[in-house]
Amino acid sequence: MPIIAPSILAADFANLQNDIEMVNKSQADWFHIDVMDGVFVPNISFGMPVIESIKKHAQKPLDVHLMIVQPERYIETMANIGAHLITVHQEACTHLHRTLAQIKEAGCKAGVVLNPATPVSILEDILLDCDMVLLMSVNPGYGGQKFIPQTLNKVKKLRQMISEKGLNTLIEIDGGVNMETGKALVEAGADALVAGSFVFSSPEPAEVIANLKSL
Ligand code: DX5
Ligand code: ZN
Repeated sequence: MPIIAPSILAADFANLQNDIEMVNKSQADWFHIDVMDGVFVPNISFGMPVIESIKKHAQKPLDVHLMIVQPERYIETMANIGAHLITVHQEACTHLHRTLAQIKEAGCKAGVVLNPATPVSILEDILLDCDMVLLMSVNPGYGGQKFIPQTLNKVKKLRQMISEKGLNTLIEIDGGVNMETGKALVEAGADALVAGSFVFSSPEPAEVIANLKSL
């Protein structure tokens, strides 16, 4: 069964507690927290006060996706707020190995995110240090975009790299996940699915989460 991580970016920010309680009671595994700085991606989402408020109510681990330049500046802050897993973009890190070590030293699981145009082969010499790899299946910055089908090939290649190296690195996918793309992703070898608009635009979000969980 895949790990399901509803993306809070698509929640109702005026009624966040309600949506957090829904996720708490649902079959979801993690809260996916999208942090955007308006520089690495064109959009700005939310920052520390909002994440602290989410953490107060969340009864499941926070999967924090940093879409920001120089993410190393905020690792300790996110760890102190209580992040379980912190993912940083390969494209945003000059010293990726050091940043992953910094995340682990702060007591969190460490993951690397790849944009759609970044090949999985770039992870050859860093995969050993990744608890998770997050493959973007849309260009980061916005919810509700269309799934990029080439992601399926990337998942298969990455799954092969991980098994050839005998690792247990998780593969997470983010963007345009619904029942159809989710099924194809799980078949290709994905372990974890992020879903934003597909979950929160439904009148029965907990049911959507249960359906994704059954994939
Ligand atoms: C996009 C974010 C995603 C986003 C996914 O930059 O990283 O987590 O919330 O949204 P959907 O599931 O609507 O594509
Ligand atoms: Zn995300």
